[in-house]
Amino acid sequence: MGQPLITLHDKAFQPYLSAAEIATAIDQVALRLNADYAGRQPLFVVVLTGGFMFATDLLKRFTGNCEIVFIRVASYEGTGSTGQVQEIMGLREDVQGRDIILVEDIVDTGTTLNHLLPTLQANKPASIEIAAMFFKPASLRYQLDLKYIALEIPNDFVVGYGLDYDGLGRNLPDVYVAV
Ligand code: IMP
Ligand code: MG
Repeated sequence: MGQPLITLHDKAFQPYLSAAEIATAIDQVALRLNADYAGRQPLFVVVLTGGFMFATDLLKRFTGNCEIVFIRVASYEGTGSTGQVQEIMGLREDVQGRDIILVEDIVDTGTTLNHLLPTLQANKPASIEIAAMFFKPASLRYQLDLKYIALEIPNDFVVGYGLDYDGLGRNLPDVYVAV
């Protein structure tokens, strides 16, 4: 018998990545961050809404001192990128001279990061790196330096682990792919 499907709105999804596989991938990213940022007190800038679950698990594994702030952007409607980023909630912290780590749920077309990076750069941080749970290389439309990627995935629509389909599915600990 196949794995059970789940339904969100009008769509069926099948299991794709387990919570255990996700945890193992995050362990690897955390090891690298802990080595690279030893003694540096970075500012983690978490991109909401989707980034909340990855940020929670990643930051519990970060062993140094750090600060954490949240920003909120949106570029998606249903299962397709609108290609436009609407900034909902801006960054108020002073980022000048800080080592920033942007925490994203997924890098798809790269539109969100392509919009956010210049905005952050304009405030003269010491450094900016990107930490993303998922990356769809086949979908990327911009030149981006993605240093900390937990898992690369094919160009399929996925839900779970912070990612939603029209608002549903973010709470799922495993990741599912549209059937
Ligand atoms: P980008 O701006 O095209 O890179 O897309 C970034 C945002 O689109 C992510 O932060 C997600 O919120 C959303 N997104 C991209 N791919 C998926 C997916 O497969 N499932 C759910 N949301 C996605
Ligand atoms: Mg997002």
